[in-house]
Amino acid sequence: MAGGITQAEYWNGEVGARWARNQAVLDAVFAPLTEALFARAALRAGESVLDIGCGSGATTLEAARRVGPHGSVTGADISAPLLAVARTRIDAEASGAAPIRFVEADVEHADLGGSGQILSRFGVMFFADSGRAFANVRRMLRPGGRLTFLCWRALRENLWVSVPREAVLPLLPEAPPPPPPDTPGPFRFADADELAALLRGAGFGTVACEALDRDVVLGRGSTEAEAAEAAAHVALNLGPTSHLVREAAPELRARAEAGVTEALRRHAEGGAVRLRAACWLVQAG
Ligand SMILES: C[S@@+](CC[C@H](N)C(=O)[O-])C[C@H]1O[C@@H](n2cnc3c(N)ncnc32)[C@H](O)[C@@H]1O
Repeated sequence: MAGGITQAEYWNGEVGARWARNQAVLDAVFAPLTEALFARAALRAGESVLDIGCGSGATTLEAARRVGPHGSVTGADISAPLLAVARTRIDAEASGAAPIRFVEADVEHADLGGSGQILSRFGVMFFADSGRAFANVRRMLRPGGRLTFLCWRALRENLWVSVPREAVLPLLPEAPPPPPPDTPGPFRFADADELAALLRGAGFGTVACEALDRDVVLGRGSTEAEAAEAAAHVALNLGPTSHLVREAAPELRARAEAGVTEALRRHAEGGAVRLRAACWLVQAG
């Protein structure tokens, strides 16, 4: 993906730095999805938790609050800039919570010790070899433990991605090629039957994929125009549409910004741009 570079290069380069700068924005966009993830995981006081692809640590910190001082929480990620942000948040946000360690590690291969609960918010779709990675995750799950994660359903069902994307596509000199099958990327697990088979092949005995639909707020503002501008910033800098214009000439980028802002303004109401996000909320044990 991303021009033939590895995922470690991708998440440690310009993309990782951009996500790191915008941690608060992304956490706000994902908030309703995060709530559903934790409701399903149903963490209990004293549990040990591993957060896969923890990024800047929002879900790791939330897990630490939920399992409390007798629990333990590990956040693992391959991105040094995102982990650097995550580490700065421990002291500020984690009093009365479980001890947290953030580890720079590729979850496909690393041995991070046993955990009773393994979680991920959109951090499991980027492994080079998903089967090997989930088998490794399965090995790290203690007997009776659960893996609970969020991943995206198909792009067309995710209006928060397809609306800005449709505004950008006509401006591009040529249509972007579809991603080759089974390569790292946000929509890799859109097919729940394939995902369930992959998890079973990795050693999970029970697998449940529940469709989760939530409206996410892509941008807010005191006017609809302001909300649309904020939403366009998210779409063109952080979301899955951003790679279409990442290397675009300034003139094309400016036209894309104008087109996406206009498209998103049609979804602005009451000072917020709300669009549907469609996920699989997966639990396996
Ligand atoms: C879409 S981001 C989600 C980050 C975070 N969970 C969140 O919701 O803000 C995907 C994350 O997975 C991480 N990642 C990708 N491949 C990984 C791997 N093999 N092992 C560990 N983390 C990985 C990336 O560095 C990135 O932080």
